[in-house]
Amino acid sequence: MADLTVQRGLEDVVALESSLTFIDGKGGRLIYRGYDIRDLAAHSTFEEVAYLLWYGRLPTRAQLDELRHRLAALRALPPGLLQILDELPPDSSPMDVLRTAVSALALLEPAESQPGASSIGGALRLTAVLPSILGYIQRRRSSKLLPSIPPELSHAAYVLAALSDRPIDPLDEGALDVALILHADHELNASTFAARVTASTLSDLYSAITSAVGTLKGPLHGGANERVMELLDEIRTPDRAEEVVKARLARHERIMGFGHRVYKVEDPRATILRDWAHRVGTAKGDLSYFERLRKVEEVVHREKGLYPNVDLYSGAVYTLLGIPKDLFTPIFAVSRVAGWTAHVLEEYQDLRLIRPMANYVGPTDLSYVPIDARA
Ligand code: ACO
Repeated sequence: MADLTVQRGLEDVVALESSLTFIDGKGGRLIYRGYDIRDLAAHSTFEEVAYLLWYGRLPTRAQLDELRHRLAALRALPPGLLQILDELPPDSSPMDVLRTAVSALALLEPAESQPGASSIGGALRLTAVLPSILGYIQRRRSSKLLPSIPPELSHAAYVLAALSDRPIDPLDEGALDVALILHADHELNASTFAARVTASTLSDLYSAITSAVGTLKGPLHGGANERVMELLDEIRTPDRAEEVVKARLARHERIMGFGHRVYKVEDPRATILRDWAHRVGTAKGDLSYFERLRKVEEVVHREKGLYPNVDLYSGAVYTLLGIPKDLFTPIFAVSRVAGWTAHVLEEYQDLRLIRPMANYVGPTDLSYVPIDARA
């Protein structure tokens, strides 16, 4: 009991072997299945990356076309799901709706959900349907119906079309596609670990993804970019960044979008998104987010020696694309579902129940007191 060593937060604990993603925390590199994230962000698409994660190799053009057709055929929301979602309070948080939707799909689509060593049917279905659920959330609050969206659109363009009626700007599509690539997997982060823990009991794929969505919801994981935008709202102009950030640090508050359990240098995803925040901001004639963020970076690095993580610039990019703040974390899920499902499939192939131990620090020798004799 008392002499067990506790690794709080499982920090530095290596829990399993995986061939999906490598993070070089000291060198600031992120590798999916052998490919550097910078190459993937510069040259590939989200669909190629999802294929890479699921199948372990980049697709040929024919394989990519087939994947895109399969995703397009799997986007529709079943009427049973719409009935359930229509019953939820209209002001429900989008992450709560998303979690409920994935959980309900497990009942409506038990065949796709089943644990299986090689089946990726459920992975495709969840990846295809999550943007439609986001579209439903966004349209419901503006009392509009999800329009029929051309199946030939890329995944990123489908997400944009599900959220807004505006014509899709190729730069917006490119920016979102890169953001989706960057978020698709990240080794044993908290939500992926939650998914693998659930899968390791031989539970079904949809239950594992429900666990993951619930875990992603927390502000220390998926919700940080929303808080970054709240900080920028408070800062208003770059010249106020110093004062606002220092005041928060003096109150021992964390500055969202900085620090990482694994990266000890700048998160490579932050470097790429900084570039895109500048590119999209320049194209739209609004560099105000970029300028405030640069100033915040300078102050946080000087005061705390901390580097930006993926969440620092993603919120600015999404805002410039017209995506509402409370959909930032659901957008994260739209991408990470590729990694979650790849991890669950990997878990099924080499299954070992994940069950750590706790160092018990409570009493062990109390005498049972009958209920009427208790003080
Ligand atoms: N702002 C201010 N101080 C910070 C921050 C931050 N963002 N991050 C870490 N620190 C400080 C801590 O206060 C602590 O200081 P102390 O030793 O003086 O108490 C020290 O750095 C170490 O912090 P830990 O919490 O031990 O580091 P950990 O590895 O557990 O934290 C985490 C990682 C949770 C991401 C943390 O950096 C954080 O809270 N960041 C803000 C939230 C955020 O941006 N999350 C998104 C992460 S990326 C993702 O999930 C997609």
